[in-house]
Amino acid sequence: MSDRPTVFVTRRLPGDGLDRLGEVAQFDVWPEDGPPPREVLLERVRDLDGLLCLLTDTIDAELLDAASKLKLVSTMAVGYDNIDVAAATERGVLVCHTPGVLTETTADLAFALLLAAARRVVEGDRAVRAGAWPTWKPDYLLGVDVWGATLGIVGLGAIGQAVARRASGFGMRILYSSRSREPDAERDLGCEHATFEELLEQADFVSAHVPLTEETRDVFDKAAFGRMKPTAIFINTARGGIVNEGDLEQALASGVIAGAAIDVAQVEPMAGDHPLLKLPNLVVTPHIGSASVATRTRMADMAVDNLIAGLHRRKPAHCLNPQILD
Ligand code: DGY
Repeated sequence: MSDRPTVFVTRRLPGDGLDRLGEVAQFDVWPEDGPPPREVLLERVRDLDGLLCLLTDTIDAELLDAASKLKLVSTMAVGYDNIDVAAATERGVLVCHTPGVLTETTADLAFALLLAAARRVVEGDRAVRAGAWPTWKPDYLLGVDVWGATLGIVGLGAIGQAVARRASGFGMRILYSSRSREPDAERDLGCEHATFEELLEQADFVSAHVPLTEETRDVFDKAAFGRMKPTAIFINTARGGIVNEGDLEQALASGVIAGAAIDVAQVEPMAGDHPLLKLPNLVVTPHIGSASVATRTRMADMAVDNLIAGLHRRKPAHCLNPQILD
């Protein structure tokens, strides 16, 4: 029997991080495309020292209780709403994530969605493929201008600020609502602080960049959409849980807002018959905010590095509860 720590990795990872992991630990990788079923994960964690998981794995008190030897959970994501960090901390289990490396890539996608919805790129693509490209005419597929419009950024953290930098290049007025003021972004990018309500009322585009917490769950609901301009476009690359999808569907179907572009959903993957998918004024992508080759490789590397540090009881670079080691 080896005395090397045991690790379970819940999906194949890009890059060569697992080679480095193999030098210090014995590990198994879940071989399938989908996440390991709950009962498999509950069984696998029994003898583990470390778990490298994805945002599709639920790490809650039940799972942590089944894992009596577990030293740390390292997720290959910046968001960690799938992990009960308080429960992990109570049980002395470190939790690590991958902030920073995906900031710009995710902001790129937020801006791509904003542009796609504003300029009806997907509707145009669908029309051409369907053989329905009419002759050029003055009123065909008219969208709205992005340049010079007002962007409301809800949550001016790293990704929100990266979106603001892009918006500044498009000459947009940038409003933001955030728990704290961001003087650097105000000075360098001209971001203007607003209340959530003011932002909703004034913005032409509202882009969400808040984590999913009890405070932000369903924050984009009927009342929020009702405050937006009827010409407004809503963009969500954060988490599906911050939106009440029934209310979004109503708002889009009844013209309360003009359009939406989302990369995330309350339940992922979205069912093909989800009512939102019937709406032509919705652009949707399958949670690909960080999905560039370079970024996903960096995320995997960071998740492995965090894991290796934690297995050795060294402070991982990106740990949510480092106090455990004090
Ligand atoms: C994250 O990291 O939280 C994203 O949603 C996926 O990259």
